[in-house]
Amino acid sequence: MSDIAKRNAAIEALKLVEDGMTLGLGTGSTAAFFVEELGKKVQLGLDVICVSTSEVTEAQARSLNIPMADLDTAPTIHLTIDGADEFDPELRLIKGGGAALLREKIIADSSDMMVVITDASKQVAQLGAFPLPVEVNPFGMALTKARIEETLEILGMYGIHVNVRLNEGGGPLLTDGGHHILDLHCKAIPDPDMLGAVLDQIPGVVEHGLFLDIADAVIIGTETGAETIAR
Ligand code: A5P
Repeated sequence: MSDIAKRNAAIEALKLVEDGMTLGLGTGSTAAFFVEELGKKVQLGLDVICVSTSEVTEAQARSLNIPMADLDTAPTIHLTIDGADEFDPELRLIKGGGAALLREKIIADSSDMMVVITDASKQVAQLGAFPLPVEVNPFGMALTKARIEETLEILGMYGIHVNVRLNEGGGPLLTDGGHHILDLHCKAIPDPDMLGAVLDQIPGVVEHGLFLDIADAVIIGTETGAETIAR
């Protein structure tokens, strides 16, 4: 995915932003282009207030003097712009490659409109080639991992590797919320709704990276512009 395509998707998404809006800011390299472009507009007088899906995005937005709201006192979130790791024809997503899926889902799910910015490389016929991130509580992580593996087999998804995501030091990566991430190497997810529903039932699972029925549109950046797929 080229930086030009990412920026073009971000610039297209900016056209949806209006004065007075509360915006949710996503996480990842594509979302970072959106924050950068938004910062330019704010400098020119655009009147928005934002909430962010990660500490990294929060720091970037503050460095650009974008007004930030406390999520607990923020009014309605009108529009959230975020990246994705995969999207399918029904605009179902895998997210969490950047380990921010919990905050991303809380904010996206509470937004009047959630728009994904990406490029064509993230478009798939069926979700699952990208390893599905599952955020888990550190307490009893091995038990939670075993329960997930067992559950996958009950669903007929055999031989799937579940890896603890590691940080650069080789220890389990810690999310902004103080949790760990398990990556499920499913290769294919035939029934995302079913998998999402059963993962939601496993104690220790904090959240999973299947964003189902959340995205309203996907903006696909190209080298020369962008195209939008909307529901
Ligand atoms: C962050 O946790 C993710 O959900 C990102 O939105 C996703 O990984 C896309 O990131 P890029 O824009 O860097 O590809």
